[in-house]
Amino acid sequence: MLDVETINTYYGLSHILFDVSLKVKSGQVVCLLGRNGAGKTTTLKSILGLTPPKMGRIRFKGEEIAGEQPFRLVRKGIGYVPDDRRIFADLTVGENLEIAAKKAAGREDWDEEKVYKLFPTLKGFASRRGGFLSGGEQKMLAIGRALMGNPEFLLLDEPTEGLAPALVRSLGETITRLKEAGLTVLLAEQNVKFTLKLSDYGYIIDNGRICYQGTVKELMEDDDVRKTCGI
Ligand SMILES: Nc1ncnc2c1ncn2[C@@H]1O[C@H](COP(=O)(O)OP(=O)(O)O)[C@@H](O)[C@H]1O
Ligand SMILES: [Mg+2]
Repeated sequence: MLDVETINTYYGLSHILFDVSLKVKSGQVVCLLGRNGAGKTTTLKSILGLTPPKMGRIRFKGEEIAGEQPFRLVRKGIGYVPDDRRIFADLTVGENLEIAAKKAAGREDWDEEKVYKLFPTLKGFASRRGGFLSGGEQKMLAIGRALMGNPEFLLLDEPTEGLAPALVRSLGETITRLKEAGLTVLLAEQNVKFTLKLSDYGYIIDNGRICYQGTVKELMEDDDVRKTCGI
């Protein structure tokens, strides 16, 4: 579904990503692990066109998308949950979901009720303003909002960051359910234990370079690699 081939991304003159390549097959959950500052967010932003790579190729469902505008990529079926959540603080939970709604061609749509079924906590807060939710609730809302756009492929940036352990567990169940519903996911995380339980395949990024890739089994067994890659 997604094929990232040797991308190089810069912030101004700072070279951040060095020949990053990764693949995500349809129906998989693939993780991108790495310590703080390793380049996870920049990789996701490069895919979505928020920080377009200077060199390299990105193909989504066979089509070249490097340098495309983010809104076009969202229309093509890519959903994005940023690490800073970026929900609308002044809109209610319900309004935050409604404005993100986008019909999917030929597929069953997400709607508010389905999001509330996935996150029952949010249902009680439907008319509460986003800014009054806790960090964990805002995360759920950010994921719910991305789902309202009916993506085929979801970029999830550090969803467990700052969440209490019980919420991390329920988030894990949520991602598993989304996968069962057919969603393909690229998950950027620092939380190795959480991530490996959910993923089919993993990449480790360090200093802007992919330093390891393998199946979850290989990643679990290889403590040395994890140590040298800093996670
Ligand atoms: N807007 C920016 N301008 C300049 N440098 C940035 C910017 N955002 C991130 N960086 C740098 O890019 C590197 C990778 O950051 P990032 O992709 O956010 O890492 P991660 O998500 O893995 O924590 C870091 O060295 C960070 O300091
Ligand atoms: Mg990040």
